[in-house]
Amino acid sequence: MDNKIIYRKLQETDRDSIEDMLYTSFILEDPLEVSLGIECPREARILVEPLVGWALADGVSVVAEHVPSRELAGVCLNTVDSEVKRSIPVPAGDPDCTKMKVVLDFLDDMRDGVDLRKQFSMTKVVDIRIINVLHKYAGKGIGRALVEESLLLAKDHGCVTACAEATGVFSQKLFQCLGFTTVNEVFYSNYIKDGMLVFNNTGIHRSCRLVAKTL
Ligand SMILES: CC(C)(COP(=O)(O)OP(=O)(O)OC[C@H]1O[C@@H](n2cnc3c(N)ncnc32)[C@H](O)[C@@H]1OP(=O)(O)O)[C@@H](O)C(=O)NCCC(=O)NCCS
Repeated sequence: MDNKIIYRKLQETDRDSIEDMLYTSFILEDPLEVSLGIECPREARILVEPLVGWALADGVSVVAEHVPSRELAGVCLNTVDSEVKRSIPVPAGDPDCTKMKVVLDFLDDMRDGVDLRKQFSMTKVVDIRIINVLHKYAGKGIGRALVEESLLLAKDHGCVTACAEATGVFSQKLFQCLGFTTVNEVFYSNYIKDGMLVFNNTGIHRSCRLVAKTL
C-alpha cells in the first residue's frame, strides 16, 4: 500500500464517509461497544449522528486521507466545550438506545468525582470524542498524527486544555506518548452495576482512562 497520508480538517462533504467509517470500524472495534454487542447503525445512530454534527460545527476535527485513493483512513472527532462536556441526548423509552445509554453513563461516571479544574483550565476545552483508524492503516502512527493535528487546530481556536476518554490500550499508549496525564482510571473488571459486570470480553483492553493535557 502506498503510505502517503494527508491530514486535513473535517468538512461537510466527509459526513457520509465518516458515519460509514464509524459504523463499519469504530463501533466494531472500540472495547465498550464491542463488549455490549452494539448493532450498527440501529443502536449506534444516537451516538454517531450528533457527534459528527457537533464535530463539523465546532471546526476542530481532523481526517486522514490516503493519497491517491482519497480513501479516508482515519478520523479524530472533537468538540469544543467548557467545564461541562456536552451530553449526547438519549430519548427516553427507546429500546434501540438502551445499550448506548450504558456506554454514555459509563463515560459520565468516569468524570464524576473528578475535579479537572484542580489541574487544568476548563474555560475552553477540546474534547477528543472519537479517534478511529481503519484496521488496514493501523499501527503506522496515523492515530497519533490525527491527535497532534487536532491539538494544533484546537489551540488555534483558543482551546487551552484537551481531554479524552481512552478506552483501550492503543489509545492509552497514544495519549501517554503525547504527554497527556491520567486523571482517572476505571478497570472494566471493577465496573459493576446492579451486582453485574457491565463490560465483559474486553480482550486485551482492561481499563478506561480519563486523560487531559494543557495545550
Ligand atoms: C486507537 C487507534 C485510533 C490507534 O490508531 P493507530 O493509527 O493504530 O495508532 P498509532 O499507530 O499512532 O499507534 C499508537 C500506539 O499504539 C501502538 N499500536 C497501535 N496499534 C497496535 C497494534 N495493533 N499492536 C500493537 N501496538 C499497536 C503503536 O505501536 C503506538 O505505540 P508506540 O508509539 O509506542 O509505538 C486505532 O487502534 C483504532 O481505531 N482502534 C479502534 C477504535 C478505538 O478503540 N478508538 C479509541 C477510543 S478512545
